[in-house]
Amino acid sequence: MSLARVSAILVVIWIVVSAWIIATPIGNVLPAATDHAQSIDFIFKFMMVASVAVFLIVEGFLLYFCLKYRRRKDDPEDAIGSDIHGNTRLEIVWSIIPVIFLVVLTAMSGKVYAEIVATPKHAYVIDALASQFQWECDHPSSKPEIKEFNECHMPLGEVTIKLHARDVIHSFWVPEFRVKQDAVPGYPTVMHFKTTRAGQYRLICAEFCGVGHSEMYAKLFVMTQKDFDNWVKQQQTANSGSGNLTNLSFSKDIEPIFTAHCAACHIAQHFANLDLSSYQGLRKGGNVVPGPIIKPGDHKTSTLWLITSPAGPHPGGARMPLGGPYLSTAELSKIANWIDEGAKNN
Ligand code: CUA
Repeated sequence: MSLARVSAILVVIWIVVSAWIIATPIGNVLPAATDHAQSIDFIFKFMMVASVAVFLIVEGFLLYFCLKYRRRKDDPEDAIGSDIHGNTRLEIVWSIIPVIFLVVLTAMSGKVYAEIVATPKHAYVIDALASQFQWECDHPSSKPEIKEFNECHMPLGEVTIKLHARDVIHSFWVPEFRVKQDAVPGYPTVMHFKTTRAGQYRLICAEFCGVGHSEMYAKLFVMTQKDFDNWVKQQQTANSGSGNLTNLSFSKDIEPIFTAHCAACHIAQHFANLDLSSYQGLRKGGNVVPGPIIKPGDHKTSTLWLITSPAGPHPGGARMPLGGPYLSTAELSKIANWIDEGAKNN
């Protein structure tokens, strides 16, 4: 088979595969939830089409030349190939084409990047604080301020995420948003997008940040403006009152605190030998067996109380996430009262 015919076949394969890539909406596999999705999906497809071309040129001709110039049965034992040195025209071509491609790609990416790090004044601002191994989303525009742990609510529309890290580098990633930004200690970063699709998503830490990295994800909710306003009001009311502190229910009052603050390290990883998974078992019924971790009637000496208090010692010298206090006064009161009430399941 001639080189021309092989080239023609490779071009046809490239056209067919590229047409398939271009015609397949990425949104079918991964819904698009921000305005950046379209341009980022376009760049992705642009790179895919170019990568397929590179793959076919390299692997296609490699295979072709391997077959065409293989050793034949009637070749002499000491046969050697022809000695070829350089081809200036070919080298110029294979340098210029990638340069043009990279310049175009840089221009396209630069435009999207500028949109991602832009900070328009009218956008809704969320302070996202990353620490080993949890996400905190604060809403500074709300009075009283709303703080969320391992959950993040935002309205449909323009949103700016201001990212901070308390210990090591983390990364804010929501696949459906198509954007990702690092949270770096001592170096605030920012990310802007316009959410276009209400729903629940997963906010994932995309930077290996320690043994609990795989547990570092949060529920992220994009809500219509009306639903979001209602949610904000609810949160503000919940934060203003001290809340009910008698007849505390494990499932309603305590478990959400465990899930938000303790689960990633002390249920999934058993950090510092503190295994809270047995208290998760409370959901199945029964009371906590009193012990050093939970001491009903004497909560001030129980380990759980000590380690969750803002001024409490870190158990066994282990380090809780920096930048405490880890729990709000309301949450601490709930835990204290729940322990003193006998840590019952109800
Ligand atoms: Cu935080 Cu990985």
